[in-house]
Amino acid sequence: MGDYRIPFNRATLTGSELRYITEAVERGHLAGDGDFTRRCNAVLEQELGVLKALLTTSCTHALEMSALLLNLRPGDEVIVPSFAFVTTANAFALHGARPVFADVRSDTLNLDETQLGELITPRTRAVVPLHYAGVGCEMDAICALAEERGIAVVEDNAHGLFGSYRGKKLGTFGALATQSFHETKNFTCGEGGALLINDPELLARAEILREKGTDRSRFFRGQVDKYTWIDVGSSYLPSEVLAAFLFAQFEHRDEIQATRARLWRRYVDALGDWAAAHGVGLPHVPAHCEQPAHMVYLMLPGLDARQRLIAHLRERGILAVFHYLPLHLSSMGRTFGGRPGLCPVTEDVSDRLLRLPLFHGLGQDEQDDVIGALLEFDAFE
Ligand SMILES: Cc1ncc(COP(=O)(O)O)c(C=O)c1O
Repeated sequence: MGDYRIPFNRATLTGSELRYITEAVERGHLAGDGDFTRRCNAVLEQELGVLKALLTTSCTHALEMSALLLNLRPGDEVIVPSFAFVTTANAFALHGARPVFADVRSDTLNLDETQLGELITPRTRAVVPLHYAGVGCEMDAICALAEERGIAVVEDNAHGLFGSYRGKKLGTFGALATQSFHETKNFTCGEGGALLINDPELLARAEILREKGTDRSRFFRGQVDKYTWIDVGSSYLPSEVLAAFLFAQFEHRDEIQATRARLWRRYVDALGDWAAAHGVGLPHVPAHCEQPAHMVYLMLPGLDARQRLIAHLRERGILAVFHYLPLHLSSMGRTFGGRPGLCPVTEDVSDRLLRLPLFHGLGQDEQDDVIGALLEFDAFE
């Protein structure tokens, strides 16, 4: 990433992380599912209103647990947006399913719910709405269609912790939902995640899959007198050291979210006229969505303008980054039927999107520098 005066991201730090890690060490329980893990799970359960939250080693692993919980079989299909992180699709492919790529809406960059119906076949088992930038997908339409056609909803809520859609928290719509605590996310422990479970029928098995296919969770609760191998599974639970780090951030959740919201609003207010004058798009947040200030992006007129703007910012010591490359055009995506033209909106926005530095520790002076550098850029043609 080189040496940038203003990096794209600095991990959130509240100041109590090391104290809590010390506490965990002194308590002598370093494996998973100790007191800090339970407290993190409880924050997620209470704040979101989900039946059960289970910390995991990553969002990727929570997605893989979802694939296992759905009992996917070779030939099953899972609908994923093409404008997504690799593991949004890979987690299901890893367990034998064929990802079916859906295009996204050009306004929110979320899975286009109007195209969902035609992608559902008798082999479809699930749809994975990714709440891009923490702006809710059109969950009324997606959940209604999923219910009518008998398919599961797994929300990829990596960006959307504490966001809501029509007043209901993201992560509470699907049978399952996944969170990420990777260092780029609003709340982090370096690498981490969570599986949110809203369907009571999936709960008991989720605990077993996460504990290497054993009923060790029940054993720890004193519900069985020994634990044993009863299903497939893997090791998806993070150490208490990570949970202690994460809990320090959860405790400061209001302050972290308020700081990010202030930074987000400042960017959007300061850039509005410049963006309108140059045909640059800013994030679109429908009135019925509350977004958790995870991301600010620009939608530039084209690829050349984006490259020029990245270089302009780099000369001023500022790192701005882009993502996602269309999954349907990746070499793996092509083996699942991806080809140019399949998801035209994804192909278009993927060349034009640029993310700005937005993180808890971004100073006002630093943000002013980013804004100033943007306002002086006019090489769009
Ligand atoms: C939308 C989305 N899903 C899943 C992931 C994977 O998260 P993790 O790194 O916690 O596995 C990411 C990571 O950035 C993401 O942005």
